[in-house]
Amino acid sequence: MTDNANSMWGGRFAAGPDAIMEAINASIGFDRRLAGQDIEGSRAHAAMLAATGIIKPSDAETIREGLLTVLSEIETGTFQFSTALEDIHMNVEARLKDLIGEPAGRLHTGRSRNDQVALDFRMWVRDQCDGAIMGIEALQKALLSQAEAGADWVMPGFTHLQTAQPVTWGHHMMAYVEMLGRDASRFSDARARMNESPLGAAALAGTSFPIDREMTAKALGFDRPAANSLDAVADRDFALEYLSASTICAMHLSRFAEELVIWSSAQFSFVVMSDRFSTGSSIMPQKKNPDAAELVRAKIGRILGATVGLFTVMKGLPLTYSKDMQEDKEQVFDAADSLMLALAAMEGMVRDMRANEGPLRIAAASGFSTATDLADWLVREAGLPFRDAHHVTGRLVAMAEKQGCDLPDLTLDQMKSAHDAITEGVFDVLGVDNSVRSRTSYGGTAPDQVRAQIKRWKERLV
Ligand code: ARG
Repeated sequence: MTDNANSMWGGRFAAGPDAIMEAINASIGFDRRLAGQDIEGSRAHAAMLAATGIIKPSDAETIREGLLTVLSEIETGTFQFSTALEDIHMNVEARLKDLIGEPAGRLHTGRSRNDQVALDFRMWVRDQCDGAIMGIEALQKALLSQAEAGADWVMPGFTHLQTAQPVTWGHHMMAYVEMLGRDASRFSDARARMNESPLGAAALAGTSFPIDREMTAKALGFDRPAANSLDAVADRDFALEYLSASTICAMHLSRFAEELVIWSSAQFSFVVMSDRFSTGSSIMPQKKNPDAAELVRAKIGRILGATVGLFTVMKGLPLTYSKDMQEDKEQVFDAADSLMLALAAMEGMVRDMRANEGPLRIAAASGFSTATDLADWLVREAGLPFRDAHHVTGRLVAMAEKQGCDLPDLTLDQMKSAHDAITEGVFDVLGVDNSVRSRTSYGGTAPDQVRAQIKRWKERLV
């Protein structure tokens, strides 16, 4: 082996890599984030090699101690990462060799960087699933507090961003609690599916050493070892599932963020965002901008980008490992950071924001929001078929619009001119409070329904 050739595989090489080769090949700039997982995996592997008699227990002990030293060097920032050593796996092993000498060379018995990286990355993504679930639950709790405070505050419900029917603030908050609940369950489903250990698949075909894959799987918190060595080193579907779940979650956050941007505008004034999550303008002194919400709205761009990026990297790759797959990590790291930040920012915004009960109520009553209640009343009290009731109500809306007033402002005579079965009783359902109270169907906006859902979620989230 020449001086320039690689210490890991230098036997076959006469010369070291071109500088450009080193630059394109190295992943240590980003995969150092896998250091903790890498060392944990190596410790489990070494313990198994000793337990199965593949290496001496004394070597395993020396390796274990050396790995702990490496870990503390990395954690305290004294570790010297080297691009020439390409990736985290070789950086750790090379340092281990500096520290303990010959036994370090025994650690890689029955293992390859292919199962090693599949293991490290899988454990990292698994942790992110747990982190995402925690972040989601914290946000759900913030939403529950908002929902509880305003279970019966009325606000307009929209379709097409046009006033549709009055709903309650609590109901609107709880809609996001439901969405986020499904997001959390997607992360936990993905986690359960990815929880099989690739360690021991070796390069691709398994190994002739009498390894114990059950043992390492158990030590590393996996449910079982992956059953096919080719699959274990070749697939990154676990990362794609994580990214897909993240994208859906980020989409929900983005929609909510957009609502906060709209609601905090002077024109809507539905909410006041706290100063802690807003910024000012360098030129317009009156401005308070919902920057955090806007950035949460935007984060999906990176997360979806990572998802598309990794699908694109993986499609068309023949089994098993190809170096393309080194491009799996950076974007997952970025997506994970973005998601966690977006969840935390949203939680902070929701905790701190104040709903403007007055403007919400005024908006709830405007825009003929109780027209459906009027039509329903005609069905219930006057026996009209719904389609006819719809028509009569439409005429009354047109009448009110022409007069520049809302439905409850019409006189009884005007009401009767549209249908003579209308009585004084109709005015009861034209109030927004009565309207929301009447929506008692399961999952409806009636405050009692909303409170029942809050209770169910509070029990679930303790
Ligand atoms: N740094 C590599 C990666 O991230 C590790 C696996 C290398 N395996 C190999 N056969 N070259 O994918």
